[in-house]
Amino acid sequence: MGRLRIDLLLDESERSRLLADDVRRGLTATPKTLPPKYFYDAAGSDLFERITELPEYYLTRAEAGLLESTAASVMSIIRPAEIVELGAGSATKTRLLLDAAQAAGSLARYLPFDVSPDALRAAGAALIEHYPSLDVHGIVGDFERHLAHIPPPDGRRLALLLGSTIGNLDPAFRSVFLSQVRGLVADGGGFLLGVDLVKDVAALHAAYNDAQGVTAAFNRNVLHVVNRELAADFQPQAFQHYAFYNPAASRIEMHLLPREVQRVRIEALSLSVEVRPDESIWTESSYKFTQQSTAAMLNEAGFGLAEWYTDAGRQVALALAVPR
Ligand code: SAH
Ligand code: TRP
Repeated sequence: MGRLRIDLLLDESERSRLLADDVRRGLTATPKTLPPKYFYDAAGSDLFERITELPEYYLTRAEAGLLESTAASVMSIIRPAEIVELGAGSATKTRLLLDAAQAAGSLARYLPFDVSPDALRAAGAALIEHYPSLDVHGIVGDFERHLAHIPPPDGRRLALLLGSTIGNLDPAFRSVFLSQVRGLVADGGGFLLGVDLVKDVAALHAAYNDAQGVTAAFNRNVLHVVNRELAADFQPQAFQHYAFYNPAASRIEMHLLPREVQRVRIEALSLSVEVRPDESIWTESSYKFTQQSTAAMLNEAGFGLAEWYTDAGRQVALALAVPR
């Protein structure tokens, strides 16, 4: 019978200290920013799941379709004894890979890593029930601090980073991150990376500006998190969700833009800030890639591109990378 273990590398007090530092730094900088990892409290993780099901949000469906058609090929190339998934979230799509790995008979262990304890606990409990022979070892941690605490491989390891989460990392951190992923995957292992591709701007715009306003609610959720955790008085409804494609940088930018000047008190930081309608709070970027830009970033981190899988509509791609 498979077992579930969850390690907390980030406890509540460390998380609040980090949040306090990040919020102070972000809201006193120019331009103002808030880091996207704070979107994912329990409410934010639920809103994210709703985003993945929106009609305009093609990414999750396209990636799931691609995983379905390529999982067997990936497993026959890598034959992993274990899968480490970074930013696993609900791990819904991961089942397509777990099914294929179990069919290939190689897989013993699944290690999901995520900053959200809520998402990780729910995913872990569901997975051990569905895969009784699988050991699930969840790790609650932050990409920026805890990747080095992931245990070394026990057998061939496949690392996963799906959902174009790579696109939400700043370019400078992205290279540090990918080099650390290279360290997590010993020789003989592999890294399956899901990227969103550069495409028609109207399709991109619609995906981040859905008609039901779920993405807007997700964006504003970070203000609810700051209000709750740092005794702040943001009025989330006073901020417009503003998301647009910046072609020169190949990224969607997501901002919170006030209609009128907002004076906000963040009691736990003894800080007052003003957010004006001619500025915004930049909450997230979502970079879009090509085969060439993906191969280049993998190469810089010490990986070679072994396979490039893309869907018929060229919406998303999966890059299977191996250590060079
Ligand atoms: N893999 C899933 C979820 C993607 S959403 C999918 O493809 O649908 C991004 C996930 O990364 C969320 O679950 C979020 O909690 C996690 N995440 C975001 N920033 C993180 C960080 N700094 N450290 C660890 N996990 C992070
Ligand atoms: N990484 C995915 C993307 O950039 C999922 C995601 C993260 C997302 N944050 C988001 C989607 C905010 C919509 C809005 O698309």
